[in-house]
Amino acid sequence: MASSRVIVDRLHEVVGPQLIVDRDVIASYTTDWTGRFGGHTVAVVRPGSTEQVAGVVLTCRELGVALVPQGGNTGLVGGGVPLHGEVVLSLRRLQSLGPIDALAGQLTAGAGVTLSALHRAARAAGWAYGVDLASRDSATVGGMVATNAGGTHVLRYGDTRAQLLGLEAVLGTGSVVSHLGGLVKDNTGYHLPGLVCGSEGTLAIVTAARLRLVPAMPFRTVAVLAFPTVSDALDASVSFRRSLPALEACELFLSSGLELVCSVTGMRSPFSDPHPVYLLVEMADHADPTEALAQATDSIDHVLDVVVATDLSRRAELWRYREAHTEAINTLGPPHKLDVTLPLGSLAEFIDRVPETVRMIAPAARTWLFGHAGDGNVHVNVSGLPPDDDQVDDGVLRLVADFGGSISAEHGIGAAKRRWLHLSRTADEIRAFRTLKRALDPDGVLNPNALLPPDGS
Ligand code: MLT
Ligand code: ZN
Repeated sequence: MASSRVIVDRLHEVVGPQLIVDRDVIASYTTDWTGRFGGHTVAVVRPGSTEQVAGVVLTCRELGVALVPQGGNTGLVGGGVPLHGEVVLSLRRLQSLGPIDALAGQLTAGAGVTLSALHRAARAAGWAYGVDLASRDSATVGGMVATNAGGTHVLRYGDTRAQLLGLEAVLGTGSVVSHLGGLVKDNTGYHLPGLVCGSEGTLAIVTAARLRLVPAMPFRTVAVLAFPTVSDALDASVSFRRSLPALEACELFLSSGLELVCSVTGMRSPFSDPHPVYLLVEMADHADPTEALAQATDSIDHVLDVVVATDLSRRAELWRYREAHTEAINTLGPPHKLDVTLPLGSLAEFIDRVPETVRMIAPAARTWLFGHAGDGNVHVNVSGLPPDDDQVDDGVLRLVADFGGSISAEHGIGAAKRRWLHLSRTADEIRAFRTLKRALDPDGVLNPNALLPPDGS
């Protein structure tokens, strides 16, 4: 392999001053948001165009150097940081936004555009973007496409793959594939956007995406409902999904999580008394959905209490009880984050059994459960574990597999879960993955330490 000096010099020829070698600046690119995954690199490169991205890939290919693509560095599975000394390819400078096709309800966004900027651009054109996440101010289009980001609105609009009408990307060969026309019906062969989306930077580097927009809804109502059991809350979630077409989010959290959020943020609980389980429900419609939500709530059993908000600031406050879980849990030290989906019929039993499963393996650890009740995705966060001790991960992921669930709902496999991929994918599927990887990235330059289990395992 080429020496660090040669790597730096050759990459400098491609991106000039946008090559970073300063140790202090590099530090923010080499460690993930949680602090659990950290590595090292000889350089971070920040190309400003698709041509430069292709130049970086070609150079790395020629030198036999691996690279890790990175967007807003909000990933939670160690898939966007250089754990094995890879060059970091930051896509954040690819900031182009537009053209917006207000007739079709579509836009083209560069990989470095943040989700918040995307929301603003869609709103300005009289539309909305269907995916939303708590990390919206940092998460980028490229990262969200690469990881097929899900978030809080999946039950209504689907995941990122469902928004993707076209893609521009650089393959591991260095060639650029671009199909950004945005035709909704376009049956002309393999759907490369769908393949690259969720491939976690292992097949291609996303440089731009053509995204569908959804109707903007002028009226919103958010409610937090309290329940005695997880099972009651999940029954309510099914009933809301069945009866409320304007349901946009249905999120679950527990009393322990709310207590932690309140103690970390200084917020007061929305209820005077604590309750075991909470469901946050959001409706969005062309007319005020508050009455429809009240009627649906009246027909639900075991509701212990409800708070409702229609104005913007109170709605944001209610959302904060749910969205601040991530930062609140992180104050206890880097957690192990297991992001899983269960068949809806098994979700309540799984949630009941997880804390005991963790306790059996690590009696001093604490388990935090919250997530997207409407689509079966629960976040199992465990604090108080050494970063590299993965016995709890193993126990929980095996429990997920026993219930017929998926070991990754929306965060991806990254480096953290690659050794358990076989729990969700057959040997034939993994072989097909490797065949695709070899075809699009023959020299294994693109994120070789993410997603696929190490060769031979
Ligand atoms: C969330 O739903 O809040 C995110 O997926 C982040 C997390 O799991 O911490
Ligand atoms: Zn989530």
